[in-house]
Amino acid sequence: MKYKANNFIIDGLKAEKIAKKYHTPLYCYSYKDLKKNIDNFKNSFKNVDPIICFSVKSNSNKFLLKEIGKLGLGADVVSIGELMRSLKSGIKPNKIVFSGVGKTTNEISYAINQKILLINTESRSEILEIEKIAKLKKKIVNIGIRLNPNTDANTLSQISTGKKENKFGVSKKTFLDLVNYVKNSKNLRLKCLSVHIGSQILENRPYEKMLKVIEKIIKKSKFRFEYIDLGGGMGIDYEKKNKHYNFKKYSLSIKKFVKKFNSKIIFEPGRSIIGSSGILISKVIYVKEGYKKDFVILDAAMNDLMRPALYNAKHIILPVKKNNKKSKKIYEFVGPICESTDKFSTIKKFQKLNKKDLIIICDVGAYGMSLSSNYNLRPKIAEVIIKNSKIRVISKRQSINNLM
Ligand code: LLP
Repeated sequence: MKYKANNFIIDGLKAEKIAKKYHTPLYCYSYKDLKKNIDNFKNSFKNVDPIICFSVKSNSNKFLLKEIGKLGLGADVVSIGELMRSLKSGIKPNKIVFSGVGKTTNEISYAINQKILLINTESRSEILEIEKIAKLKKKIVNIGIRLNPNTDANTLSQISTGKKENKFGVSKKTFLDLVNYVKNSKNLRLKCLSVHIGSQILENRPYEKMLKVIEKIIKKSKFRFEYIDLGGGMGIDYEKKNKHYNFKKYSLSIKKFVKKFNSKIIFEPGRSIIGSSGILISKVIYVKEGYKKDFVILDAAMNDLMRPALYNAKHIILPVKKNNKKSKKIYEFVGPICESTDKFSTIKKFQKLNKKDLIIICDVGAYGMSLSSNYNLRPKIAEVIIKNSKIRVISKRQSINNLM
């Protein structure tokens, strides 16, 4: 994605043309970027030969899941919906892990029937429930236990999951108790220790700390785990400050770890695979004068892209066509929804914008469409992908009639 003669180009195609044909707001993905991210992830961790399970919650588009599956990834799912869709997209059950603190009886039963690689459990009561269902079905079920390592991921508090005040995983003491319990169960087979300390992590230190905690607890448990699931969380450079997650460094620490324990590593990346491969194209409906700034009212809103409203997340905004005329006003880019948090960004020296101009919101491939809703009874927007210089609609725009 780059500018050519002042026009924003995605894989050789003008964003302006795409918007004209498919209308706005529009999610647009680049297959090339998706593949590049997957290749990069695989290459960085080649030395540990992991099973890479794409975190479906970050983007559950059927076409994208199929492509991700074809490129060799499995799936990390957190609901029966995500599990069914992953299977339907051709991802093999032996490459699927099921996480989440509140799996229902129905979900557990379905997962057991499908013979997925692992159910990563998060509590004593969940383990007892799985055991009960497995007994009834006369089956032996492979499970993992998610440890809460009490490690600070140094990321936004809303997307931090590995500290003791978070609802995820079990404490070290409970972990050791549960290892002993599952070891003696007739219907459960303990295969994995899993962790996930948070999302959008840009430093290596939290992961290094987490590895140390895991090392200690494995030694204490005296149990050999066939798999260690290290979760996802690797961050991306939303603000283009050249802050990249150092995969290579992490892979070296993991390599050392693997040598000690001889376990197969599982990863559950979402954002680092799909985040940078998607943009949101939107049109200016009005430019409105405020007291101290102008509001650029877009046709995209918080229901289409929730991250800024929910986490105050930053996404770079760019013009589809550069005009080199700077605006004298500060611009606040907002959506039409009746909420003050329905805003994307405040920018000082943006180029002058007018009604009907097009803009791009960057890096929205992860937790963009998957977090979208029909709030204010706004129809869900379309998604397209560019693959081999051809555009393809991978999810249709809802019509108003769909909602009536
Ligand atoms: N594994 C587990 C158990 C998770 O809970 C998550 C994300 C992942 C893997 C994938 O993490 P990733 O590699 O994508 O960071 N909606 C928020 C992010 C929430 C993440 C929830 N769990 C956002 O837009 O930033």
